[in-house]
Amino acid sequence: MKDTKVKLTRQAANTVEADLLVFWVDKDAGEADDFHPLLAEGLALHLSAGDFPKKGGETALFYSQDCAACRVLAVSVDTTSEDENDTFRQAGGLIAKQCARLRVKTLALAAGKNGLAENPAANRAQALIEGVMLGDYRFGTYKTEDKEEEYQGLETITLIVATTSEIMKNAADEGRVAARAACLARDMAHQPGNYWTAKHFADYAEKLQKRHRLKCRILGKKEMKELKMGGILAANQGSAEAPRLVMLDYQPEEYRKTIMLVGKGLTCDTGGISLKPAEGMQDMKYDMCGGAAVLAVMEAVAEEQPRARVVGLIPATDNMPDGGALKPGDVITHYNGLTSEIISTDAEGRLILADALAWGIETCQPDCVIDIATLTGAAIIALGHHHAGLFSNDRELADALQLAAARTAEPLWPLPLHPAYKKQIKSDIADIKNVGGRPGGSCTAAAYLHHFVGDTPWAHIDIAGTAWNFTEKEYIPKGPSGFGTRLLLEFIRAEGK
Ligand code: BES
Ligand code: ZN
Ligand code: ZN
Repeated sequence: MKDTKVKLTRQAANTVEADLLVFWVDKDAGEADDFHPLLAEGLALHLSAGDFPKKGGETALFYSQDCAACRVLAVSVDTTSEDENDTFRQAGGLIAKQCARLRVKTLALAAGKNGLAENPAANRAQALIEGVMLGDYRFGTYKTEDKEEEYQGLETITLIVATTSEIMKNAADEGRVAARAACLARDMAHQPGNYWTAKHFADYAEKLQKRHRLKCRILGKKEMKELKMGGILAANQGSAEAPRLVMLDYQPEEYRKTIMLVGKGLTCDTGGISLKPAEGMQDMKYDMCGGAAVLAVMEAVAEEQPRARVVGLIPATDNMPDGGALKPGDVITHYNGLTSEIISTDAEGRLILADALAWGIETCQPDCVIDIATLTGAAIIALGHHHAGLFSNDRELADALQLAAARTAEPLWPLPLHPAYKKQIKSDIADIKNVGGRPGGSCTAAAYLHHFVGDTPWAHIDIAGTAWNFTEKEYIPKGPSGFGTRLLLEFIRAEGK
């Protein structure tokens, strides 16, 4: 994982050394007097031709001998848009694309409107940096040729500001940390199922413990057997590799709340004996995106040190068919003693999350728990690739998550938790069954999890439609989106203030 540096400077824009100097320009700015002199000169012809700026989201590149950076890029921004943060994030994504085209290593970014020093709103700078770093993402492939030719992305971003206030420094840092976390989650998700297994989740967590103020506890197969975690063990039964339940615990000296995050870490979901169709099965290496988001958030939390205790839990395994694998019709017993009839071995996510939720809540007594999982194909049918599904037994928690989601532009849509769906998963021979038919598939999955959280305020986020193939945006490349990482971090930031 590359670490892009973010620096602040009060130097005059034209003296900052960089491969590219960028100014953002208000789309409604028309008079040359409104601009930084460099821009006024460089854009004079664009302006008189009426070619730039226009609607917002355009770029204009020019070269200037009057500045240390030589290449200058102007990016137009629609500051009247409804979601200003995301408009700036998208502008950042656009800048990153130009950086890739020009193979830029060092970027200088003016914080003020039209390159002028006044009004350098910190949240705009934060969104710009976040967008640049999210857009500057690429996964180093497994190709052996052309390695040296590959563009490695940005090394430094220098933010040009009028004053280096604490607010501006913090904003730049929050933008950097959030983007880095999302890129880290994307990195893990990109890894193929043979390179990222349950063990890799555990190894990464252990490394974090060494570097940061975090406690790490890993449950292996033996402990799971002792603790009678029948759900995780069942999902893992056909696998050649043992499962892990990874726990990371960030506990500051002073805190009011304990927040628990649980992420589905299914490193390859073949469906097991209820085998998935071959077509598209390769995408099921992404079935660990919830776990990746939680692990990445824990690293960011360790760096930012909020005033909340945050516990991250990742039940991790793959779901494989073999002679010893779980079978349709089997009955398993979960950690909390509930028995479950297996209708489909492909509905494995709820099995591993159920044990993690019940054990995590009993062990840490959190004030709230949020699970995030690529849980159901039905979530894609319901919401497409634009919203993740949100289920919750607690209005306040759901509202706080919606607020965070609006700020990070990772939209959630509320879906029902209702006794009718619990009825749908009643079994004739066990307490519950793991599938309640096709109707309302995401809601019955949530109803299943509901059995394992007791009265704890809980939210379940189904990211099956958004973990990859997420709505196209300038700062979201093809492949895994990192969805949920920034949202959960934002939620923790608000709770831990
Ligand atoms: N990991 C899948 C859900 C999924 C499907 C995520 C497509 C992303 C894209 C999950 O384990 C699964 O297979 N669910 C089944 C449940 C069914 C058997 C009730 C599904 O959605 O088909
Ligand atoms: Zn499955
Ligand atoms: Zn799955």
